[in-house]
Amino acid sequence: MSKNSEKNLQDIINHLKISGFVYQDSEIYGGVINTWDYGPLATSMLQTIKKYWVREFITREGNYQIDSKIIMNPNVWRASGHLDNFSDYLIENKLNQKRYRADHIVKELFPEVNVEKATFEELEKLIQENVKQYDGSKCDWTSIRPFNLMFKTQMGAIDTTASQTYLRPETAQGIFVNFKNVCRTTRAKLPFGIGQIGKSFRNEITPRDFIFRTREFEQMELEFFCEEKDSDSFYQYWINKCSNFVKLLGLKNDNIRVRPHEQEELSHYSKGTSDIEYLFPFGWGELLGIANRGNYDLSQHMKYSQESLEYLKEDGTKIIPYVIEPSIGLDRLLFALLIDAYEVEKVSEDDERTVLKVDYSIAPYQLAVFPLLKKISEPAKALYERLLKTTNIRVVYDEAGSIGKRYRRQDAIGTPFAITVDFETLENNTVTIRNRDTMEQERISIDEIEHYLSKFEK
Ligand code: GAP
Repeated sequence: MSKNSEKNLQDIINHLKISGFVYQDSEIYGGVINTWDYGPLATSMLQTIKKYWVREFITREGNYQIDSKIIMNPNVWRASGHLDNFSDYLIENKLNQKRYRADHIVKELFPEVNVEKATFEELEKLIQENVKQYDGSKCDWTSIRPFNLMFKTQMGAIDTTASQTYLRPETAQGIFVNFKNVCRTTRAKLPFGIGQIGKSFRNEITPRDFIFRTREFEQMELEFFCEEKDSDSFYQYWINKCSNFVKLLGLKNDNIRVRPHEQEELSHYSKGTSDIEYLFPFGWGELLGIANRGNYDLSQHMKYSQESLEYLKEDGTKIIPYVIEPSIGLDRLLFALLIDAYEVEKVSEDDERTVLKVDYSIAPYQLAVFPLLKKISEPAKALYERLLKTTNIRVVYDEAGSIGKRYRRQDAIGTPFAITVDFETLENNTVTIRNRDTMEQERISIDEIEHYLSKFEK
């Protein structure tokens, strides 16, 4: 098993493109920079990860799930603070008009500087005085200016500023503005959570590192409402839950760490935030975050909407609940899972294989069915059809090329098991089942397949 620091990110990206996990968006028109579409394999994994999130964060917790809109009333973003504060520090090289995030340049070139503590005047001075060459070009820097990350759009046919609105930069606000609706219609009692999965949009200055930072991405967010006195213990609870969740999906313990934010990194309202970071080949990076947001969001929406979002306790007192928010980026989680799984292994002196050792529970296909030779494809196809129609196993059929090549093709896309129908099958109804990771085969009865695989479900 190789360490992530030894894995070559470009090799992994190439593998994911070639094997059909990820396509360049709008490829036939030359693409869109740093924008990717997911092919059938990645889409299957994303669906499964979402299914597990719903199970772990909603169903098994007795929480509620909603589905709010991407385009909301623009006042939502005034109240949430996104219109005023959701900005990155942009700096431009006047010699080639390329724009960058000033904090990224400083982090990269001056790792000793604490970017969170530095003012933007300090970042600007550091860059202007010291960075004369960057990204392959000579530099003449502009001053730094805040750049709001929200995508603007128009609502309706009238093209005026009055119709201007935004694509949501997070799914969380759709939950806060529906807090009262959910309380009223479900009669939920504190503590309880409301979650949703959906697309978010940020006009990132420098989308980068493949699907790590993109302008359109998907989030799985839970807002867990509780009383102030319980908020510290629920904050810990959700940190542990998130950490266990990514391990359940198969991330290796050594590649994950919890990093509590320092005081300077916290928003003024935040009572505490921790990131779960993953050891990407380019270093530790945020995978997801858990924040104790106090009662800031509900208070802000009360102020701007003039509607009460208070919660009536059983003793008749009214409170504005505190909220703990575990917020997970689905694309980033998928990327981490694929990096974690990627291995190039030496099979013999002159043979190596690329294998994705993704966990059985999230593998795009869990089982491949092959006939040993094309001339016995009929019983193999019949078995494949039966498994498709009567089980939930994600199964694929392949009869093209030698059996060795077929095994390697499935290794490369992460299929944990492959069944071969051979001449013995015709005699005694048994098949060989090959394990992707050990490459060992055993013979089992066709009737045992479901039971055999059920051991690997989570
Ligand atoms: N509601 C809180 C919130 O949105 P965030 O830290 O800005 O917090 C949460 O985002 C998660 O969303 C991140 O941990 C990351 O996984 C994902 N994310 C944020 N920006 C992203 C981007 N540009 N591309 C891909 N994923 C992103």
